[in-house]
Amino acid sequence: MSTPQKHLVTCALPYANGPLHIGHIAGCFLPSDIYVRHLRREGKEVLFVCGTDEHGVPITLKAKKEGVSPQDVVDQNYVRIKESLEQWGVEFDNFSRTTRPIHHETASDFFRTLYDKDVFVEEITEQFYDEKANQFLADRYIVGECPNCGFDSAYGDQCENCGTTLSPKELINPKSALTGNAPIKKETKNWFLPLDTLQENFLNDWVATKKEVWKPHVFGQCMSWLNDGLKPRAMTRDLDWGVPVPIEGAEGKVMYVWFDAPIGYISATKEITEDWETWWKNPETQLTHFLGKDNIVFHTIIFPSMLHAHGGFNLPTYVPANEFLNLEGQKLSTSRNHAVWLHEYLNDFEGKEDELRYVLTSIMPESKDSDFSWKDFQARINNELVAILGNWVNRVLVLTHKFCDGVIPPNALKADYNILEEAEKLAAKAEKHIDSFSFREGLTEVMNMARLGNKYLQDTAPWHAIKEDGGQQRVEEILNVSLHLVNQFAHACVPFLPNTSAKIKQLLNVEGASLMAGQPINKPELLFKKIEDEEIEIQMKKLEEKETVTTVDLEPVKPTITFDDFSKLDFRIGTIVEAQKVPKADKLLQLLVDIGLEKRTILSGIAQHFAPEDLVGKQAVVVCNLAPRKMRGVESNGMLLMAENTEGKLVFVTPESDIEPGSIVR
Ligand code: MF3
Ligand code: ZN
Repeated sequence: MSTPQKHLVTCALPYANGPLHIGHIAGCFLPSDIYVRHLRREGKEVLFVCGTDEHGVPITLKAKKEGVSPQDVVDQNYVRIKESLEQWGVEFDNFSRTTRPIHHETASDFFRTLYDKDVFVEEITEQFYDEKANQFLADRYIVGECPNCGFDSAYGDQCENCGTTLSPKELINPKSALTGNAPIKKETKNWFLPLDTLQENFLNDWVATKKEVWKPHVFGQCMSWLNDGLKPRAMTRDLDWGVPVPIEGAEGKVMYVWFDAPIGYISATKEITEDWETWWKNPETQLTHFLGKDNIVFHTIIFPSMLHAHGGFNLPTYVPANEFLNLEGQKLSTSRNHAVWLHEYLNDFEGKEDELRYVLTSIMPESKDSDFSWKDFQARINNELVAILGNWVNRVLVLTHKFCDGVIPPNALKADYNILEEAEKLAAKAEKHIDSFSFREGLTEVMNMARLGNKYLQDTAPWHAIKEDGGQQRVEEILNVSLHLVNQFAHACVPFLPNTSAKIKQLLNVEGASLMAGQPINKPELLFKKIEDEEIEIQMKKLEEKETVTTVDLEPVKPTITFDDFSKLDFRIGTIVEAQKVPKADKLLQLLVDIGLEKRTILSGIAQHFAPEDLVGKQAVVVCNLAPRKMRGVESNGMLLMAENTEGKLVFVTPESDIEPGSIVR
């Protein structure tokens, strides 16, 4: 794959609603930075942009929760995010923000151009409006009774109990989640991007050209959207936080956050160069978007459609999305604080920036989800960085001081140069892998250079050779070759381990690419230090503590009831005797439950948590006198009690030991 001379590389703009964690890093900051360093080393012209995504509902929710303004939230997080990225060493040309005037202008101009070209479809719809809060309500802000199962706090977009997708208008007795008020319906006009016609006129053909170019999971996800058939999507919202819609009749409306955010890549370019068009409009420039898999549709469908409809812009050549990184076998979670935060890592592991790069590259979720664990972090550093790379470089330097007075010895026999050729091949392989976004394999090839160097030292054993006839000359040859190999390594590891590369160059006392015989080298210093068990234990403890301390999401206790109220409930132990899926309901299971007196059919919204075959034989607490309710044509007679945590995880409330079905619980 030969790459063009000019490259615009983008990294998805993180929301400014919290600090960065290792999921963000492995997902797009690290891969984009590796790619950019690789291109720069090859002498390509690169512009690398990012910034914070500062609009959207997550920011306003956070502000509401903290009782501050959205601007306060983003100001604080911008600084934190930017500083941690700088400290860790990502080489952005610009790290901008979407609340800057340059961005508002750029997004407005873009919107206006589409409007003037009649791209948008205008539609007046009735939306729920909260008269007390004086605002239209996003779907998630409306709760009410589910028309399907009767659950009393279904959301405007979905019932969490039975899994049905809803629209707010279907809810019975809808209420505003902001004020508890019954909202009214109010007409409002919005502007839609006609993705259905864009699909026919543009996307189908354009995406087809990417079949062999994009990663299979990226292309696959994109195709599944196209196969379902795209629908027009509203690009405006009745909210007050965002880029104002710059047209008449749209007062009080803002752009959909996914309309303005990717334009942030353009504003970040404009902000630092007048010559921005050469990065966006010159067909010779390659555009590459790095992102996580939840952003694929926006970068392969919506943003390209916007660029196409606008006209004159390059479309992305590559969209190398990564999948997700888990932590200790569980999903990373900001709300549960199950995360390793970048700023905390940099504080706890000072000077170990490359160690984090190394581990996260080794486990990068390039084609499937992967897992970070502290034990694995320790093992990779100790067994690979310390034992293979660090020891090898150190041995070469120490031996050079011991046998050659710390001076690079004269050039070696031709015979041994095949080692350097072999190393050159490994380096070339690594570069190829980077060109095709296979960073894990690239890193493996680079580390193979260190393995090769170790083997060469082991095979030639200068500490023995020195004792034989002509030993001094032989040892000088070996060390000359080894020093060249170390130098080659320093060049090859630039994209992956930039600090280590610089450190090796400094130890070798070389500035340019090549070593000169007769030059003194510097005193050896260890490149890496072992990670001790205690350091890992501290991190594991920290994770546990973090998780148990977070109780903020727990619901408050409900109002007091009388004993009479309580005794109206009939709880008994039931044993599940049959379990099956309910057709066309992705959350419902139909259970037959033995409650001693009889066997009852009970429907339960747990299909996404348990497989039917695992439930047979299980005991649970059953509410036996709940009014029957019909769902999907089946009558449900009772309810199983489940415990649910703030993450929505469900577990059975089961008797501690087996007891006859029908036993009363009180
Ligand atoms: N803020 C989004 C997220 O974290 C990503 C925005 S990427 C951009 O999921 F294209 F919109 F900039
Ligand atoms: Zn429901």
